[in-house]
Amino acid sequence: MCGIIGYTGSKKSLPILIEGLRTLEYRGYDSAGVTVAQDGCLVTVKSRGRLTDLEAKLSSSGELYGSAGIGHTRWATHGEPSDKNSHPHSTEHLTLVHNGIIENYAEIEEMLRGAGYDFVSETDTERGAKLVDMFFAKSNDPIDAISRAIKVIRGSYAFGIIFKGFEDTVYAIRKDSPLIVAHDGEGGFIASDIPAILKYTSSYYRLDEGIIAKVSTEKLEFFAPDGSAAEQKLETIDWDIEQAQKGGFPHFMIKEINEEPEALRKTLEPRIRNGLPHFGIEAIDGELLSQFESIHIVACGTAMHAGLIGKAIIEKLARIPVNVEIASEFRYRDPILRKRDLVILISQSGETADTLAALRHAKAQGVYTLAIVNVIGSSVAREADSVLYTWAGPEIAVASTKAYSVQCAMLYLLAVRIALAAGAIDEPRARQICDTMLSDIPTAVTEALKLDRQIYDVATKLVAAEHLFYIGRDVDFALSTEASLKLKEISYIHSEAYAAGELKHGTISLVTDGTPVIALTTVGKVCEKTVSGIREVKSRGAYVVCVCAQGLVGKYDIPCDDMIVVPEIDELLATFPAVTVLQLLAYHVSALKGLDVDKPRNLAKSVTVE
Ligand code: M6R
Repeated sequence: MCGIIGYTGSKKSLPILIEGLRTLEYRGYDSAGVTVAQDGCLVTVKSRGRLTDLEAKLSSSGELYGSAGIGHTRWATHGEPSDKNSHPHSTEHLTLVHNGIIENYAEIEEMLRGAGYDFVSETDTERGAKLVDMFFAKSNDPIDAISRAIKVIRGSYAFGIIFKGFEDTVYAIRKDSPLIVAHDGEGGFIASDIPAILKYTSSYYRLDEGIIAKVSTEKLEFFAPDGSAAEQKLETIDWDIEQAQKGGFPHFMIKEINEEPEALRKTLEPRIRNGLPHFGIEAIDGELLSQFESIHIVACGTAMHAGLIGKAIIEKLARIPVNVEIASEFRYRDPILRKRDLVILISQSGETADTLAALRHAKAQGVYTLAIVNVIGSSVAREADSVLYTWAGPEIAVASTKAYSVQCAMLYLLAVRIALAAGAIDEPRARQICDTMLSDIPTAVTEALKLDRQIYDVATKLVAAEHLFYIGRDVDFALSTEASLKLKEISYIHSEAYAAGELKHGTISLVTDGTPVIALTTVGKVCEKTVSGIREVKSRGAYVVCVCAQGLVGKYDIPCDDMIVVPEIDELLATFPAVTVLQLLAYHVSALKGLDVDKPRNLAKSVTVE
């Protein structure tokens, strides 16, 4: 997620921009840049890497003393992290920073090429900047130019813009990406988030979608797209900077769980075109896909657990065999790979050493590789034959949550695409699944988040446990593996995921009075069978929490002590709200134990060693 800061006022802008960007570092970034307006010019300095790289570059550039400017930290989406892809993007008439994704950037590029524009970067943002430039060149009116441009742009954006001829004013607008506007009496600010302005003021306007902010030294003004004056609501907070970076949540993990509806939307929306999955990758959208005879999904930890969900859905819809492999095993066990196999690598960071080694092994065997990765330009993304980015934004908590949800979403889309290519489902069915995914998944996950209080209450009953089991069948078993990992890694409670029917083959001897068992029942066809498993543990004294799909409640007599009802959704998609419930449960157990939720002992966010 990019970070935006802008300032115009009585002070020098550069220190304010750099300091503001530093407070936004938590959002994750791979490059940074600033533009300062001085002496009628817009001077831009930008650099791939950290803010210190930008500062090194600034120290060898001429002095930037202007009192208006914009700054940006870029989390790459279109085009690798590089100096030329960094923001601000400058044109003949303006300089612009952007957070979000312009979905129709290719169409815009075509239109602009027709009007004589050329491009220096691979970014969607440069297309957006030149679109605003084109309209501004005609009217010399910033508000008119912005209004016209946003009528053309599809996607999400928060823009900060300085126009030539209006160098002491910062303009801003947003849609589906955050942006706040503030004034401290001596100058005005725009920023992606509150920490960037907290040193100066605790009052701000959260810009409404489609409203243009005109920020000057003296005042803030707001305009509707038709140029008429608009009102915005002033808000005030009393958080410190750390609280503000976590959006007021006590930990990054709970903040990131709460970001799931938005992350899912960002992953799904751009990949569904005319009602069908569309990835913009010839190999995946075209002929090649119909030629794969079997699939290997290779990953580690949570990403591997997403692979188990992928296996279930691909095999169900496409009827193509899928093998899920732990990357550290795959790389050494000389797996059988055939020319018509597809290897899918999943990784949030794209830097996990074992996953990277597995990718290289598959490539060395001449097998087609597809990566599902969150971090743009990471090693796995660069080396795979094709890459699908999940666009969940940076995940800071070590325990992966939103990244898992979007990995599953991407695998669902892929499953629909593969099933269509294989002729296993027809177009109407594919459209119906895509439609339901888009409309229902973010909503159901939002509903699941509302169960927080009930989940907290259940968590209070688990904090003293030493051992715990998750049980389920079919997709519920796959989901159990992730739920169990989530709990153990942050709460230090030993936990195991078991296929509900397998317990009686040995492990049930561990179930005694009070042993907590979390039972998952979201799959109708095996629900009755799981209920038998629940009876077996219940009769040995287990404390049973059932996480049950709404549609199955009341259909069976489930002997449990507590029941958490997963919000209603098509059974095929129940994984999404169910995992949110399970992540919240793990979170609350850890937080109740007073543990370091975001940085559990012995763990690192990215495991770049073997
Ligand atoms: O960055 P990756 O997705 O490749 O990381 C893989 C695992 O290390 C990771 O999913 C790990 O299991 C999580 N931190 C668990 O929450």
